[in-house]
Amino acid sequence: METIVISLGGSVLLADDTSISYYEELRKLLLSQTDKKIFIVVGGGPPARNYISRARSLKISEDLLDALGIAVTRVNALFLASQLQKNIYMIPHSVQEAVRLNQKIVIMGGTTPGHSTDFVGAELASETLADLFVIATNVDGVFDKDPRENEDATFFSNISALELLRKYGSAWNAAGSNMVVDGPALQKIHDEHIKTVVINGNNIKTFQNVLDHQSFTGTTITV
Ligand code: UTP
Repeated sequence: METIVISLGGSVLLADDTSISYYEELRKLLLSQTDKKIFIVVGGGPPARNYISRARSLKISEDLLDALGIAVTRVNALFLASQLQKNIYMIPHSVQEAVRLNQKIVIMGGTTPGHSTDFVGAELASETLADLFVIATNVDGVFDKDPRENEDATFFSNISALELLRKYGSAWNAAGSNMVVDGPALQKIHDEHIKTVVINGNNIKTFQNVLDHQSFTGTTITV
């Protein structure tokens, strides 16, 4: 059976304008993938950033900022899981725990400080020898600069993990940092040769095309 790991940005799932119909369509899409094993790692999004920026102003340590972020990702994961599964009250707290679960769709959040949920997704993809790692974010893929702030940003339909590592490095910058793929995740994608695509998770059609192996709008990270 095909295994797919999805890193679903909190910026997609919990944006101020995420509509109820989006949740319904996402649920339908995920439940229709009966021939696949799917792991979804949910990010923190605006609620995590809200806590982190307040806590940072209160001079709380970086480790505790990460802990706050992790707690929020787990609440977000429970929010998604509760839409897909009945009687779900706990979500896995580690990659090992997630891999052991005998469920078609496994949903989790963050694990330990020092990286984002993209890294957790890369770890899961590596651990399960996944066929594909999908990073579903709130822009159409990888650009040379933030397309929400720069109209002239150049889109890459293909870019190597090595090129991205050379440009951005592999370090974890700080809690709440907002790169399309974080440094530690990029390093893992590169080292473990993880087949990775970056797509706009707001677009259910794009999501569907990726899962159905059809052509899609997004970036393929070559390894
Ligand atoms: P995210 O993975 O959501 O980061 O984790 P993000 O870059 O804000 O991504 P979006 O907005 O969901 O797309 C939120 C914060 O939680 C902590 C980090 O501080 C991160 O910035 N975190 C998350 C960890 O420390 N470890 C984890 O495994 C996951």
